[in-house]
Amino acid sequence: MPSYHRLGEIPRKRHTVFRQPDGSLYNEHLMGSRGFSGPASLLYHRRPPTAVVNSRLLQKLEWEADPDATLRMRHFRTHELPKTESTTLYRTPVLFNNDVGMLFVQPTATDEFYYRNAEGDELIYVAEGTGTVETQMGELPYSAGDYVIIPRGIIHRWRLDKVAHRMLVIESAGPVRPPARYCNEVGQFLEHSPYCERDIRRPEKPVPHTESGEFRVVVKQYNALTEVTLDHHPCDVVGWDGYYYPWAFSIHDFEPITGSLHQPPPVHQTFQGDGFVVCSFVPRLFDFHPQAVPAPYNHSNVNSDEVIYYANNEFMSRKGIAFGSLTQHPGGLPHGPHPGRAEESIGKKRTDELAVMLDTFRPLKVGKGALAVEDRDYSRSWLAKGQT
Ligand SMILES: [Fe+2]
Repeated sequence: MPSYHRLGEIPRKRHTVFRQPDGSLYNEHLMGSRGFSGPASLLYHRRPPTAVVNSRLLQKLEWEADPDATLRMRHFRTHELPKTESTTLYRTPVLFNNDVGMLFVQPTATDEFYYRNAEGDELIYVAEGTGTVETQMGELPYSAGDYVIIPRGIIHRWRLDKVAHRMLVIESAGPVRPPARYCNEVGQFLEHSPYCERDIRRPEKPVPHTESGEFRVVVKQYNALTEVTLDHHPCDVVGWDGYYYPWAFSIHDFEPITGSLHQPPPVHQTFQGDGFVVCSFVPRLFDFHPQAVPAPYNHSNVNSDEVIYYANNEFMSRKGIAFGSLTQHPGGLPHGPHPGRAEESIGKKRTDELAVMLDTFRPLKVGKGALAVEDRDYSRSWLAKGQT
């Protein structure tokens, strides 16, 4: 997690008397995801966060898998999935296992309710769109290229500017954090890290809402969505401090590491989760050895499924993809550049590609909802011309 942070008003010592202007106590609230031992923050609410008026089940979330287990390369054109009004209710699960889910959503409106994911950390890559994430812990403005990390439990709402949105949601059973090898023993980013504290954006000062009345929060828990109605506005926090809060990092602030010869994917690593890593492929200079082949060599990482979301129309080693394409290269097959791409890459000076890669350590299943936008010819696209 990022470092200790505090915002707004908090008492000098924790668990001590802290009064509101009307003389009543503020409601102290510990927010964390690993009992009393993991990273946590202390929040101070105007109203008790426990004041629930009503709960009702909205929908079960069955992530149904493609029953066809045939091993093959897969390609999904996520931009052809239907747009939905909500940012949170109708996300399409594209790939998933017990560690991580990759879902896609193209929302068109701001939800009228707030949202709390109680069973997963969310890492959302905003491929297109601008707006502000309103959270209990302050507001986080976002724009295209941002990764927004919302640890589980933090109530929030995506307030969309009126522009097109494409969002890739990575929902993680474990915490999402910077790779351990980028940080020293006190959690500070090391000099070789491709990003550091100055690139991390934290919530801006909370604006505590004072409204009472019925406010809806949709909570994801037990693989279902429940609508919980509170008797007050959920964003009523006057201050907080700790290590547990939403944050953002732009892919455009990732500083690529290059070399004289091809650098392997770990140099692109941006986040780690339990059972997966996330990497960013960003515009960069190519390898500068006179005999270098900048395109990647074929490789078999038989313990990993490799998923790439293409965030613009460039990708040097692959053809037939476009902004919005998402490919899955399962661990049971070797993968590498498309025919001709290795030769074409020789002598090239730079690439403008932009892509997000998810490597999992356990196999992924394909969600049934993604089958409608599958490119079924993709698995044969490595054949030489004339063979297809
Ligand atoms: Fe690979």
